[in-house]
Amino acid sequence: MAQYDVVVIGAGPGGYVCAIKAAQLGMKVALVEKRTTFGGTCVNVGCIPSKALLQASEKLAEAQHGLEAFGVEVGKPKLNLKQMMAHKTQTVDQNTKGLVFLMKKNKIDTFHGTGRIAGKRKVVVALEDGKDETLEAKNIVIATGSDVAGIPGVEVKFDEKVIVSSTGALEFAKVPGHLVVVGGGVIGLELGSVWARLGAKVTVVEYLDTILGGMDGEVAKQMQRLLAKQGLEFRLGAKVTGVAKAGKGATVTFEPVKGGAAETIQADAVLVATGRRPYTDGLGLKEAGVELDERGRVKTDAHLRTNVEGIYAIGDVVAGPMLAHRGEDEGVAVAETIAGQAGHVNYGVIPAVVYTSPEVASVGRTEEELKKAGIAYKVGKFPFTANGRARAMLQTDGFVKVLADKADDRVLGVHIVGFGAGEMIHEGAVLMEFGGAAEDLARTCHAHPTLSEAVKEAALAAFDKAIHI
Ligand code: NAI
Repeated sequence: MAQYDVVVIGAGPGGYVCAIKAAQLGMKVALVEKRTTFGGTCVNVGCIPSKALLQASEKLAEAQHGLEAFGVEVGKPKLNLKQMMAHKTQTVDQNTKGLVFLMKKNKIDTFHGTGRIAGKRKVVVALEDGKDETLEAKNIVIATGSDVAGIPGVEVKFDEKVIVSSTGALEFAKVPGHLVVVGGGVIGLELGSVWARLGAKVTVVEYLDTILGGMDGEVAKQMQRLLAKQGLEFRLGAKVTGVAKAGKGATVTFEPVKGGAAETIQADAVLVATGRRPYTDGLGLKEAGVELDERGRVKTDAHLRTNVEGIYAIGDVVAGPMLAHRGEDEGVAVAETIAGQAGHVNYGVIPAVVYTSPEVASVGRTEEELKKAGIAYKVGKFPFTANGRARAMLQTDGFVKVLADKADDRVLGVHIVGFGAGEMIHEGAVLMEFGGAAEDLARTCHAHPTLSEAVKEAALAAFDKAIHI
């Protein structure tokens, strides 16, 4: 029987990063994956392909109405959806091939098949050829990720053509006339805006009375205004109670959360993006005695250890934000813990980015969270309309908001709506990781002219006074 220091089940961003780190730390590592390619949801049907389509559809929108003001006339642009999809596929392929290389480079043994924990320190892999392979593991890391949750209490029959999850919404063969998106969260807005840019009428039906629930309220409101300007329609405070195929399309039925008459709208396609659930099917957790919480997530302690010795869990399958980079950092931390080092993840400083146009990015706490916690804070804000580079780029939508502790100026949160927000947010992340103050950021020389100067100005506004407004 093959023997390993660590067997990682699931090769998404959490699992493969954990495998690499464990190998770097000198351990013998096996990685088990049921897909034919590595990278999990993120690389295969999530973050990476969606970003390829976001980028491509933004190019189309730019060519349609974003270039004349620069004095660039390109004539009427034409969508070649097949080529756009080819770009997406190529991007995914480059990433999955890169992962094969990384596994080889780090001498990680890989097994393609479904892994199951079978007794103490044993993982059985049901290989693609029908045979079983048993791996003996000193340590097991569960990194099996998540799957589409559907709508609680509503039967949704996904055919991934008309009624789709995020996976099908990356593959429409033609642009739907009317796309109804159930859920105004991250997936709904990112993929909804892709298809809106490609020509679909998009209606977002959301239960809460805000989009991007959980994000800073001011940021969410601003983003809704910007998306509405791009043509997306919003039905907020609306609970979807039915999604059904009807003719070539589908119907979506919803009712006001506050009470009132139900409404049904016709759609050519429906994207259901109402969250994801931890994926633990067939893993043998019950038999292994691994405890789950009330929402089916693997229970772990602060070191990502389950209740069973030698079994760890990371990423979407564990409570916390379902973000690839959180899984990656947990993967590193667990590998370090297993190696006897002090593995640690700072959950207070995990950036979140919504890749709409413009982007939304945030790190740390929101104003709502600070109010709820009774923490006195200062707000520094700076709009991109007052940033020279943003004006030159015709990217003046949005603002930067820095929240700092009123008592000691320590930065507690940074929230950005604007072009490049997903890159700029890391200024806030690094600062917060080091416990920095708004003054530290405000006194850090920023190159001119850059969009990042808006981050500096917002910090100045929190600490003292902004200069350029
Ligand atoms: P989400 O949790 O972000 O949003 C789901 C939305 O659906 C919520 O606003 C919820 O109120 C709404 N909803 C639920 N039931 C409803 C009903 N019956 N009627 C109307 N609305 C209803 O989940 P989403 O967008 O599916 O994403 C899943 C996970 O993947 C999230 O944890 C997200 O953070 C992650 N993700 C992250 C990305 C990023 O970091 N850029 C990109 C894509 C996904």
